[in-house]
This record gives sequence, structure tokens and C-alpha cells, in this order.
Amino acid sequence: MGVDNGNKSLLENVVELTDEDLGEPLTYPVDAFVSREYAEKEKDLLWPKVWQMAGRLEDITEVGSFLTYNVADDSIIVIRTGEQELKAYHNVCPHRGRQLVNTPDDVNSVTGRKKNFVCGFHGWTFDLDGQNTYILDKQDWKGALEDKKRICLSEVKVDTWGGWIYINMDPDCEPLLDFLGEVDRILSPFQFEKMRYKWRQWAIYPCNWKTAIEAFMEPYHVSGTHSQLLKYGQFYAYSKPYGLHGVSGFDERDKSQKTKQSTSVTRAGLGDPRISTYELARENYETVNYAASTETLVNAAKRLKDELPEGTPVQDVMAHWMKSAKADDAARGVEWPEITPEQQSEAGLAWSLFPNQTILQGVTFALCYRVRPYGDDPNKCIFESYALERFPEGEEPKTEWVYAEPNAEKWGMVLAQDFDNMEWVQKGMKSRGFRGTLPNPHQEQKITNFHRHLGRYMGVGAPKKIDY
Ligand code: FES
Ligand SMILES: [Fe+2]
Repeated sequence: MGVDNGNKSLLENVVELTDEDLGEPLTYPVDAFVSREYAEKEKDLLWPKVWQMAGRLEDITEVGSFLTYNVADDSIIVIRTGEQELKAYHNVCPHRGRQLVNTPDDVNSVTGRKKNFVCGFHGWTFDLDGQNTYILDKQDWKGALEDKKRICLSEVKVDTWGGWIYINMDPDCEPLLDFLGEVDRILSPFQFEKMRYKWRQWAIYPCNWKTAIEAFMEPYHVSGTHSQLLKYGQFYAYSKPYGLHGVSGFDERDKSQKTKQSTSVTRAGLGDPRISTYELARENYETVNYAASTETLVNAAKRLKDELPEGTPVQDVMAHWMKSAKADDAARGVEWPEITPEQQSEAGLAWSLFPNQTILQGVTFALCYRVRPYGDDPNKCIFESYALERFPEGEEPKTEWVYAEPNAEKWGMVLAQDFDNMEWVQKGMKSRGFRGTLPNPHQEQKITNFHRHLGRYMGVGAPKKIDY
């Protein structure tokens, strides 16, 4: 796993926690969220060691187009160097260390297209392969710059999965597919590479990046935070680790009620399923900023009460809904991937990819988040959310990263409700009266699994069993 933080005893302690242990009552400390020293250590022990999503392939479609990805003190340039080829470099000139591409804090990602990169300070020049092609008065160095490795850009590992671009600053890192593990098998059927941005927004938010990402790791908060949704159904959830990563999905408090649908994204609400299915789909769509579903799905759900007789069993309502939405999409040139009910069920509702990416997926859409630290401040983060969807070819919307204040007007009611916890969790965790976290052993395993693995990288902070 490429984890070497020189803290062996703690590491062994952590390895003792198995996947099964995550089902036990656990606790973990809050230093990871509030400590400046911890945030400094992340710069050495976490960020340079893990694969991180740096963008989407659709961000850089032409040869020579590039994007920057900043995390903590590091900045990476990802460049499309060929039709099917990407390269990534540290965003720094080897002469005296100027950033090659200026990346201001108030820009989400800098994008552009270049034939070569000319440093703004003394004009050293680099081609797309990172090779130095020009140094003014090179002879002054008396031959010391003849070694190409001394004057080229520093390369960073880059790979792609599901249409996303991932980078890893560790030259000895494991391959991306090994890092993803079972995520690849379980989520590949959704073919995220065929989806495109519908919208993308970001904000600088007053909490630690982990406080923010954890607000989207568990549906246990739905009853308390999004109580308006309770009239549509129950939101009991399961959660489950897959290596570094984790998934959650709908579950039944009453085990006898389990159906194939119960771990899926699609779900009937309470009462007449022809009506509640529509109401829940519409409510989700409209209050999650027109994401977490599609217009096709909502419109097909709206017709259920006209197309099906009263008393149609839930399973038949759901099957009819999916069939007619699929036909509607086919008619406008949007093809659905083949996903079996078993695959759908295993894929659950929402994934957290270690350390800072989340994907809430559907057959033709995904609602995604990424969170990064902001500067050196453990109390601030860069919060980003975007919706992906399958569009008819040529009808993909043109989108840009838009800075949006974290409120209901800009993000929809549901996301605004989530925002309205994060800042106060960040403050609350600092309380002298806080006795330590008590995550739900059934519904919040994604979070404890996250801290289990974070603890392995950081050498501190792993969850421990509670004596009871
Ligand atoms: S710092 Fe880049 S050319 Fe001098
Ligand atoms: Fe939420």
C-alpha cells in the first residue's frame, strides 16, 4: 500500500482492526480535523502518497490542453500530450522555482492550451514532454546543465478511470487500478466515462476538508438534517468498506422488508408507489440542484399513475419506471449501460474513494464531490461538487467551474442543509466538553473505514474499540 510513516507500533495497532471490527462501536480522535500540526503532516504523509482525482478527460480534449490541480502546497500540471496520452508534472520551473503556470487561490483550476511552457521569470522553456528546450546563456553553467534530468520538469504519475484523471506524486506508488481495488469491478458497469458535466460549482468553506467530505459519507444524517424527505420514505442505511474505499446504500430496519431494490438508488416512497415514486424522484431532483436523478427519470415517474393501475406492486412499478425511462432516453439518443439488478445492488447508492472523492451514482448520472485543504488552515477547505450525466451526442452543455456561495439559492435546499452542519461540526469538535466521536457501527462504516486508512498513512488517529 506504499504506507511508510515510520511509526510501526501504531501501524500494527491499526492493522488489527478488520472489516468486521468496523461493525463494532468505535471512536476516533478529532486531531485530524482541528490540529494545525496534523494538517502540516498531511502534506508529507498523505497527499504525496495517494492517487487523487485531478479532473476529467473532458477538461483537456485537445493535444496541448492542460489543467492544474493544487493540493496543500503542491501544484500539478496535467497535459494532454497525444490523442490517448496524458502527462503530469510538478508545476515548478527547475531554475529558481517559479510556478510555471500561476495558480491563484481564487481560481478552482487553471486551464489552457500550449505548444510549450515558457517560464515567466527567465524564459526557460519546456515542451509537452517536460523536456527543456531553451535556456538563456546555458554556457554560463560550464556544462553542468548538460544533464537533461537536471533541467526537465519533474514528472508525476498520471492515469485515468471512468473518465476521471488521477495523479500520484509518489514515483513508487502502486498502479491506480490496485489502489481502486474492487471499486473498478463494481462501478465500471456505470461507464462514467460516457457521462459529461452538467454543472460544476465550488466554494471556499469554513471547515476542515474531512469534516466536509464526511458530511456526504453517510445517509444516517438524512432524518436529522433533511427531515423534509421523511414524508417520502425511510432512510435507514448500510455502509461497507471495500479496501480503502467504502459504499453506503438503503437498508431496512426490519430485515424482513429487504427487497432487491433496497440497496439501490431507485426506491419507492410511502403509500401508493405510483405516486410516491414520482414525488420522491422530483423532490430529490429539484432540491439537490437538479442532480441525483435526471429529467428523463422524473418525467417517466410522473406518468406512472396514468400508465399503471392502482394496486400495482412496488417491484412492478419500479420495473415499469425504469423501462419507460430507458425508452425515453433511447428516443433522444441516450443509451443506457447494461447493469444487472445484482450489479446495481452491489453498487449501492454512494461511494467514497479514498481520500477525498465521492460519487453518488445512477444508471445515467452521478453526483460527485471533491474536497481539498485550503492553504495551511485546518479550518478551511475547497469544496467542489459537480453533476455528470449522459447526453445525446453533441448536446453536452458547456460548463465551467463556478464559484458559488454555499446557500440554497446556489446549491439547492438539500446541499444547503448539509453546509449548515459542516461549519458547526468544525467548531463543535473543538469543545472541551466533547468526549470523542461515536460513529454509528452500521450506518457510518465508511467514515470509520476512512479513519482506519487515514490512520495508516498518518501513523496516528486510527479508530479504537469502545469498552462497553
Ligand atoms: S525561475 Fe524559471 S526561468 Fe528562472
Ligand atoms: Fe446530506
